[in-house]
Amino acid sequence: MIRRMEIGILGVLLLVSGGLEPLRAEDTGGDAWLRYAPLETAVREKYKSIPASMVVLGDSPVLRTAQSEMTRGLRRMIGRRLTDAKSIQERAIVLGRLAAIRDAAPGLAPPATLAADGFWLVTAQVRGFDCLIVTSSTERGVLYGVFALLSKVARGEMIAPINQVQQPAATLRWVDQWDNLNGTIERGYAGASIFFEKGSVRADLTRVGEYARLLASIGVNGCTINNVNADPRIIDDSFLPQLARIADVFRPWGVQLAVSVDLSSPEALGNLDSFDPLDPRVAAWWRTKVDKIYQQIPDFGGFVVKADSEGRPGPSSYGRTPADAANVIALALRLHRGVLFYRAFVYDHHLDWRNSKNDRARAAYDIFHPLDGRFDDNVIVQIKYGPIDFQAREPVSPLLGGLEKTNEGIELQITQEYTGQQRHLCFLPTMWKEILDFDLHVNGERTPVKALLAGKVFHRPAGALVGVANVGMSSNWLGHPLAVANLYGFGRLAWDPNLSAEVIAEEWTRLTFGNDDVVVKTVTAMLLASWHVYEGYTGPLGAQTLTDILGSHYGPGIDSSERNGWGQWHRADHQGIGMDRTATGTGFAGQYPRAIRDLYETVQTTPDELLLFFHHVPYTYRLHSGKSVIQHVYDSHYEGAEQAAEFVRQWQSIEHRVPNELYKNVLTRLEYQAGHAIVWRDAICNWFLRTSGIPDERGRVGNHPERIEAEAMQLKGYTVMEVTPWENASGGTGVECAKASACTASFRFDRAARTYEMDVQYFDQNNGESKFRVFVGNRQVDDWVANDRLPATRPGGDSSTRRRISGLALRPGDEIRIEGIPGGEERAPLDYIELRASTE
Ligand code: GCU
Repeated sequence: MIRRMEIGILGVLLLVSGGLEPLRAEDTGGDAWLRYAPLETAVREKYKSIPASMVVLGDSPVLRTAQSEMTRGLRRMIGRRLTDAKSIQERAIVLGRLAAIRDAAPGLAPPATLAADGFWLVTAQVRGFDCLIVTSSTERGVLYGVFALLSKVARGEMIAPINQVQQPAATLRWVDQWDNLNGTIERGYAGASIFFEKGSVRADLTRVGEYARLLASIGVNGCTINNVNADPRIIDDSFLPQLARIADVFRPWGVQLAVSVDLSSPEALGNLDSFDPLDPRVAAWWRTKVDKIYQQIPDFGGFVVKADSEGRPGPSSYGRTPADAANVIALALRLHRGVLFYRAFVYDHHLDWRNSKNDRARAAYDIFHPLDGRFDDNVIVQIKYGPIDFQAREPVSPLLGGLEKTNEGIELQITQEYTGQQRHLCFLPTMWKEILDFDLHVNGERTPVKALLAGKVFHRPAGALVGVANVGMSSNWLGHPLAVANLYGFGRLAWDPNLSAEVIAEEWTRLTFGNDDVVVKTVTAMLLASWHVYEGYTGPLGAQTLTDILGSHYGPGIDSSERNGWGQWHRADHQGIGMDRTATGTGFAGQYPRAIRDLYETVQTTPDELLLFFHHVPYTYRLHSGKSVIQHVYDSHYEGAEQAAEFVRQWQSIEHRVPNELYKNVLTRLEYQAGHAIVWRDAICNWFLRTSGIPDERGRVGNHPERIEAEAMQLKGYTVMEVTPWENASGGTGVECAKASACTASFRFDRAARTYEMDVQYFDQNNGESKFRVFVGNRQVDDWVANDRLPATRPGGDSSTRRRISGLALRPGDEIRIEGIPGGEERAPLDYIELRASTE
């Protein structure tokens, strides 16, 4: 029965929202997609037949969680108050493991092939009563079944009658967090760590419990909580009781705790003079350490290892292989059923760029393929989806097809390190689907990546999908409210890689925003378009994200990849661009099975979107699309920026259909993105124009009649500054105010009298807060403080942002004046203003 108060609230909300299901601001924060909002009366009708009593067969922390989640979900969504019963004496919801269900309902014939963690949802008669049964061979599976059922209700799907089996694709579905013990997060964009603070585990682990709930709801069964660049202290004896506290919070949700370890720990912590994996003292040290961990955390999941990579210690110091290093730790873990993830992200970051045969992309395959079959059965080689590093576009890593006698896992990145850092909308399941569905044709057979990961192709005991999540203390977990869809999407794909990106986007939108069709259609369309849009304005044709790879990995930094040892080269010169990775070049294409190798070896058969990853071509080279490479660079960056602006309009179209706070939060981010997309567009287009000398057929590049450069204005106090690299500021320069008091930049307006929209392009650093005021004549039309926390301490592509002033009535002769007052180390830097006639 619905409580009176709930009826009251519901009635009022239905009234104000015209029958649409209401959403409150608080619903979209910590609960994320598990908000269980009350359903409309008409939708509730569908669930009339859900029994009012619940029987849980068995008792354990996970089963109790399943029970309370079912109670909470049905009460909130349909107002059903479930009563608990000990046995089936009436119509009931029945939760329990298969063994218990068989005892209670001997007549029932459960599916014979139910894998661990898979579940069966079924309506059936038990002792003459209509029951709704949720069962699995594991307790965790029962919990997953409960979440699946509640998700159906939230989305208005029919659940009676039901007879559905769902099985996870891979045994290990883990998220990695790159949290540091001091509470910061490597490549985290959503606040401080939920696990650590000032060198210890947080006293209050409420958020950890909430996170575990989210993870369980999408079938994630393990979480590595610390940075892959691991601090050895994480497994110091004195730290273990703290880890045990986190494991206690994870346990009721079926999430196993794991940690990243530093391979030199025997030396760093154990006072040994070596960490040589073949030294018996080192083996003994790991055994003792692992035993101690399991004494305190009996269901501990295992370790992740990053070694011989980006300066981390590794087996190469002793002339040993990754297999030697992995196996010595894996042996210690095996006694306790723990696993070891050994990352294949091993490469030399001091490569000689002058040698055209050198290629970082080759590293993982070159190192790990020869070791196939040498890893123990509880080792999983964890492979980033592409051969470089989480770029917006990379081919599938050939190593995924190069291991037949070794367990493998794929590493995806939920945190948007190279894809906009949660300031840009970029729904990644669209990309992940392309990777998971990609057929590598191993041994000439159909072998999509998802089948390899499931361990099905080569009958491996384990397979894994791992997502680097890096959620933080931000109330919505990932910073951008729409970025949460990436966490949801990762879990859904790890569970079932056959789901489409469309289905995932729609599920998430319904669960998060409710079932208003207009909202569902709009948000889903935005999500699905967003990866291509982001790719469109950040780097062309597989040349990778053309970002500052030496710094933040955020704004444009085209040349930063070149002429250094990091190996993210795209080798652009005045004639052409691209890495020759064919047999005549680095030979990387030869690492793929034959059919794929043939595809990429030949320039004509290489898909346009990967052309520059595999081939060096002149700018005049014609793509399959019929365009020249250079024109494609210009067009895709202009189209991408236009589509980013379209996101703003799409979002505005649902203004009154989402809670106001949330609406404003997302709108601010989308407006920022649209502005930053222009920064990206201009940097890349101008750079390629100057480098190639070939103009844009459509005359847009380098031609901005609506812009007034700050350096061309009348300056009082402001001085002209060079921005480096030059392409990250319009005209290569901006102005800065070296005084402590206000500086001004002004000009006389000389266009037709009417209403304009004015963008002030300025630089917002994180080491100061400048104040700006804009005047038309003596009238102040806007003021703001530049207090965003963009990842930059100087003017450039990371800090460039804009302020939009709409509805500005201007007449010829008006003086427009911008006043900037520096704050901290930020000198109120300005780039340009742009004036466009208002369309409204
Ligand atoms: C990237 C990232 C690093 C991270 C590394 C890894 O290079 O920028 O911060 O440590 O990947 O995956 O190990």
